[in-house]
Amino acid sequence: MNILVTGGAGFIGSNFIRYWLTEHPQDVITNLDALTYAGNLASLKDVEVNPNYEFIQGSILDAELVGQLVETADRIVHFAAESHVDRSILGPEAFVETNIRGTFTLLEAARKKKIPFHHISTDEVFGSLELGSSAKFTEHTPYQPNSPYSASKAGSDHLVRAYHETYGLPVTITNCSNNFGPYQHPEKFIPRMITDLIDGGTVKIYGDGLYVRDWLYVQDHCRAIDAVLTNGKNGETYLVGGMSQDISNKDIALKVLEIMGMSEDKITYVADRPGHDRRYAVDWTKIHDELGWQPEHSFEEWLKETVEWYKNNQSWWRPLKEKAESIYK
Ligand code: NAD
Ligand code: DAU
Repeated sequence: MNILVTGGAGFIGSNFIRYWLTEHPQDVITNLDALTYAGNLASLKDVEVNPNYEFIQGSILDAELVGQLVETADRIVHFAAESHVDRSILGPEAFVETNIRGTFTLLEAARKKKIPFHHISTDEVFGSLELGSSAKFTEHTPYQPNSPYSASKAGSDHLVRAYHETYGLPVTITNCSNNFGPYQHPEKFIPRMITDLIDGGTVKIYGDGLYVRDWLYVQDHCRAIDAVLTNGKNGETYLVGGMSQDISNKDIALKVLEIMGMSEDKITYVADRPGHDRRYAVDWTKIHDELGWQPEHSFEEWLKETVEWYKNNQSWWRPLKEKAESIYK
């Protein structure tokens, strides 16, 4: 099978390509990535030598290029996006362009060739849950996005669904919770905290720090996408989440400080993110019951592994770090 992966030089995409070529060595992957600030070929150094892997630098907004690449593809797995909520607040336009128009461009090409389209989306499209409640997002939760990022992802989800309903395009969608693990850009919470601490800085906690995410190790997300690509039902959405059990940002910071042998005085409370969603929690019963998926990597153990990875791979993140911090100045 020839798979056209978009955004494969990013965090989850690069982990996915490495995962897929290991688990499905007979398949061929073409990685279309624009190499924005978030795309990094250093994340795929070990994969470059694989004869079943090809990299194409280009944008999902380039209809001609996308059309050519789709000619030889058997399916599309679409990761490419502007992915950082803080950036979407500072400059929403790129999010509308890439996440909505970019997805539209790919869907048009997929429709002409009639090939299956898997869309990688986020739990953020469902909005925010109340702190302290036991409610979780399910496949039936209404969309209520609160940031330009999540609104643009919601728009892309709706387009994917519409192409299935209107044109009969074979599609699947996964809406996943917060990922963590190797090759995550240092602008995101966990790597930002680890890399700041390695450099002698402090952890920046937004607002009161009592915000809750449903953390999932990135390898488990790749396994979930595999389960859907292999056995998922055409036209269906699957929610994917972790087992971090309502841990607050402040408690994650305390865990990282403990792992790194540091104390709470390294925490700095900074201005809150506008429109900050209080709590996310995902009910992943459907993908478990129908496709046999569940998370395998515990939050505690793989947070430690992630700290180690950032300690041991400073040449990967150092070139990205300064630029990442400049958005907060
Ligand atoms: P990322 O920001 O690390 O990577 C995005 C990649 O897309 C980069 O390599 C970038 O160069 C590429 N890209 C951006 N615009 C492009 C364009 N116009 N054409 C081609 N490539 C382009 O993002 P990520 O964290 O790996 O997220 C990947 C996908 O997963 C996104 O769709 C995101 O919404 C979704 N998602 C992320 C998380 C998470 O916790 N990180 C959770 C759920 C869903
Ligand atoms: O839920 C899935 C989403 O998770 C993905 O769709 C997004 O692409 C991904 O970026 C992530 O979004 P979040 O906004 O939840 O992730 P972020 O790492 O930016 O922030 C996680 C939490 O930590 C959030 O409550 C904001 C807070 N935060 C973040 C940063 C960068 C801090 O307190 N301090 C920080 O420095």
